[in-house]
Amino acid sequence: MDHFDYRDGHLFVEDVPIADIADAVGTPFYCYSSATLTRHHDVLADAFAGRDVLIAFAVKANSNIAVMNTLARRGAGAALVSGGELRRALAAGVPGDRIVFSGVGKTRAEMGLALDAGILQFNVESEPELRTLSEVATARGITAPVAIRINPDVDAKVHQKITTGLRENKFGIEWTLAPEIYAHAATLPGIRVVGMSVHIGSQLLDLAPFGQAFARMRDMVFRLRRDGHQIDILDVGGGLGIPYDDQPSPGPEAYAAAVFDGLGDLGCKLVLEPGRMIAGNAGVLITRLLYRKEGALRTFYVVDAAMNDLLRPSLYDAYHHILPCRRPSPGTVNIEVDVVGPICETGDTLARQRSLPPMAEGDLMAVRTAGAYCAVMASTYNSRPLVPEVLVADDRWHLARRRLEIDDLLALESRPDWFGGDGGA
Ligand code: LLP
Repeated sequence: MDHFDYRDGHLFVEDVPIADIADAVGTPFYCYSSATLTRHHDVLADAFAGRDVLIAFAVKANSNIAVMNTLARRGAGAALVSGGELRRALAAGVPGDRIVFSGVGKTRAEMGLALDAGILQFNVESEPELRTLSEVATARGITAPVAIRINPDVDAKVHQKITTGLRENKFGIEWTLAPEIYAHAATLPGIRVVGMSVHIGSQLLDLAPFGQAFARMRDMVFRLRRDGHQIDILDVGGGLGIPYDDQPSPGPEAYAAAVFDGLGDLGCKLVLEPGRMIAGNAGVLITRLLYRKEGALRTFYVVDAAMNDLLRPSLYDAYHHILPCRRPSPGTVNIEVDVVGPICETGDTLARQRSLPPMAEGDLMAVRTAGAYCAVMASTYNSRPLVPEVLVADDRWHLARRRLEIDDLLALESRPDWFGGDGGA
């Protein structure tokens, strides 16, 4: 469920007409609904009610501090993969003891920042990382709380670019080697083992691979406990898929049942790292039709948003629904169009052969399910500055990130002084 609906023929986010925001901030822009974010958080929390569970929002999905703050106020923590995300989580008011940190390439500096913030746990992904973390913690006279991220060699059956739990993937430590790694961890002075973590991929629409991964985790917990290790926290990662294309997706209840079936009786605190499931349907990208162009074979809607603003269709052939912001009158006959951006690449296509109503230059449209992995993956390709992000709550809206200007980008660059003078050509 979300809070983007037509009223009197105009698309609203909660109680705010999208067109009003577009008039104020210009297009393109991202727009998020607080009510949808909190609802998605709360239904997941309800499915785990009565358990010792931390919902650590995967910051990589949407790292805007207004979004994170909205979730933190509901009790959510943060799942990180970089020092930058840590800075954002802290800026959003997420307490250190609700933060977990994964990633195969944590630097010493990032480890230091996270230790200083007193995070709940590091999900360690290799033996060299374990040694380095021990050194960084020892230099501070403390121990780092560690879960080893195991790679369970389970096929999540998702797009190959976002599957993470196969042996061939760079993530985690081969699960069969876990006893050795834990034994090594126990000898390191800066390491305090607290648990185990797993994350097998993203946008899973089938729960069976979760079940397989949890079963491997479960067997390993028994084995490690027999070896004398303390395993108190199980981090099950993220990955629950959402319906981009109206395809059925498992709900939080079914997901919770899979977690309980696999791991519920082990007496551990559970950490969940959902990203897409919370933020995906809570955001839209609003764009304006620049030109309707009749090609030799196709009609193109050339819009002012492009692949630099929303990369998913170009990178993963991802499907996003597109809605006109003014509801077409009954009886309108749709036409088939390609929705494309201004960037000089054929890959800059937001939707291919899509059935949309006839639209006029200047009309607004909403690209749906754009709350996760959209604004965060934007770039300034073609020198297109990053677009604003707006957060709506009831009838209020807040400019959560202003539009970058080309001057902001130019201010980061300079000409070499060896050309002398004004550097003129
Ligand atoms: N935890 C870890 C360690 C992860 O690597 C990820 C996502 C998550 C949690 C959150 O997964 P979620 O609940 O959102 O599925 N850019 C891609 C998605 C990449 C996901 C990477 N890892 C996309 O646009 O589909």
